[in-house]
Amino acid sequence: MSSTSESLLDVVPVVPVVVIDDLAHAVPVARALVEGGLPVIELTLRTPVALDAIRAIADEVPDILVGAGTIVTPGQAKQAHDAGARFLVSPGATPALMDAMLSTGLPFLPGTATVSEVLTVLEAGLTEMKFFPAEASGGAGFLRSIASPVPAARFCPTGGITLASAPSYLALPNVGCVGGSWLTPADALATGDWERVRSLAAEAAALR
Ligand code: 3PG
Repeated sequence: MSSTSESLLDVVPVVPVVVIDDLAHAVPVARALVEGGLPVIELTLRTPVALDAIRAIADEVPDILVGAGTIVTPGQAKQAHDAGARFLVSPGATPALMDAMLSTGLPFLPGTATVSEVLTVLEAGLTEMKFFPAEASGGAGFLRSIASPVPAARFCPTGGITLASAPSYLALPNVGCVGGSWLTPADALATGDWERVRSLAAEAAALR
């Protein structure tokens, strides 16, 4: 996964969205995901150790494409870049956030949940985006409905998606991958159950 010119949406069918509370979990989680067949991790900036976790994974697990999620302020885009993130994901798409993510030079997925937000991202010259929160914003039905009127937009839907619901999204022409946190349950991390993470990743990797 050395190339970042490859579309972010076409690397894996399921992007693991991961919350790390304990820095010591970062590297083993990343290794378990790679071993399970998912060499991508979206490390969310929701905990005090998140940037250090990105740094540790970037240093110690070269086989994984590590990105930063939950970018909600322009400053976080640069912090994530400096920590070693190779892609950025935001739950929204304000002009300031888009500018900050663009200026890092990294590939990024701005978040959208309405047709006007999708059009705003397209007007900025980007065709790939996150659809968030997917289930709460209309789910696969929403994306199916806009595939014909807005065919240029491609999505990584995230938010409330499960192993069971992922196939209904992945079957859509305007979906490249889905994101989800179900691959790294908090209890598996807390108990160091990396075998469970490996097996959840393998199950998700087989979705396509
Ligand atoms: C995200 O940040 O993309 C979502 O919180 C992940 O959603 P999930 O926890 O419902 O999978």
